[in-house]
Amino acid sequence: MNKKTIADLRGDELEGRRVVVRVDYNVPLDDHGKITDDTRIRATLPTLDALLQQGARVVLLAHFGRPKGKPVPEMSLRPAGERLAELMEGRGVHFVPDTTGREAHGAVSMLRNGEAVLLENTRYLPGEEKNDSALSEEMAALGDVYVNDAFGAAHRAHASTAGIARVMRAQGKPAVAGLLMARELEFLGGVVETPARPFVAIIGGAKISGKIDVIRALLPKVDHLVIGGAMANTFFRAMGLATGTSLVEEDRVELARELLAEAGGKLLLPADCVVTDRLEAGAQAATVDREAIPAGRMVADVGPRTVEAYGTVVRAARTVLWNGPMGVFEIPAFAAGTRGVAEAVADATDAGATTVVGGGDSAAAVTEMGLDDRISHVSTGGGASLEFLEGRELPGVAALSDREEGQ
Ligand code: 3PG
Repeated sequence: MNKKTIADLRGDELEGRRVVVRVDYNVPLDDHGKITDDTRIRATLPTLDALLQQGARVVLLAHFGRPKGKPVPEMSLRPAGERLAELMEGRGVHFVPDTTGREAHGAVSMLRNGEAVLLENTRYLPGEEKNDSALSEEMAALGDVYVNDAFGAAHRAHASTAGIARVMRAQGKPAVAGLLMARELEFLGGVVETPARPFVAIIGGAKISGKIDVIRALLPKVDHLVIGGAMANTFFRAMGLATGTSLVEEDRVELARELLAEAGGKLLLPADCVVTDRLEAGAQAATVDREAIPAGRMVADVGPRTVEAYGTVVRAARTVLWNGPMGVFEIPAFAAGTRGVAEAVADATDAGATTVVGGGDSAAAVTEMGLDDRISHVSTGGGASLEFLEGRELPGVAALSDREEGQ
């Protein structure tokens, strides 16, 4: 990681200074507006604690949902602000229902050393997603230092990620990574750049189309690439197998064929599958070999022989990267594949492997299964971790100050 972090800042660059911290508080809510998983909020606490302990006046910027440039009350950051205040146990954190206007500036000017405010959803402003330079300047005017701890939003070139960093640096002010951002880049970068071997990547999820660039980027680096989820069906079709009513991306079958030829023995596919007539709780389920998927049935999970075979490969690995579930794990009858793989990854960690779960559904699965403590790093990035693993530059990271550079 060649970017500066908050650890590179001197005490006098933080004490009494207004520090704008971009965080990713885009957390899931239930129908009553209650947060169902606060991992992303908790993950920013080390950065916030470090800054507040050094007497910084912290100004938090974040987005929530996709309100498309106008206020949408259901997409307010207020619930995230309330959760943050609980997690901070009474230390001064206030939510302010304004982002760059008079109320926001008023609240920031009232901050005392060691206090924080969370401002309203940056995406309420039309300039945010356009990376508008006037808005970037308004945001930069809120602080003396910029810290980006929003790994989950680092693949977006928005005013509060890339724009503000550019303006701050042009003004000679520091623009650095937070501790979560640095940890994400170290773990995700470490597994793909300097993996201890064997290096096993597990890629699951519904569609090849969303993961194709990751598969292509990882194939030359891994010892084994393990495939699960509905994307395996497209490979089955490429192998000439019957797939019943399973989800198959017809327009990717040729691509799957090419990948099979390119990968040789590195690519592992399920040997058996759990099939059903409908993806619903209570639906009938049966285990069949991949050569025997019946007409009128669809694949909903990998089968037990596959879980065992994948488990053996994963437990023997010294580096494991996992992105995407093995089946429709939200429905208990189709969760065994994802659970089995999650347990194998946790066992590999216990045996000394470095294990990284890259965001989104697989991160939710390990958290739900209570296995997150037995994974070296569970990424808070969904799309961001995929783009990073594809080898693409993340605009929110690129905009920060380099280590060797002054600012
Ligand atoms: C995420 O949830 O992946 C990030 O917060 C980015 O959200 P977005 O896909 O709406 O830009």
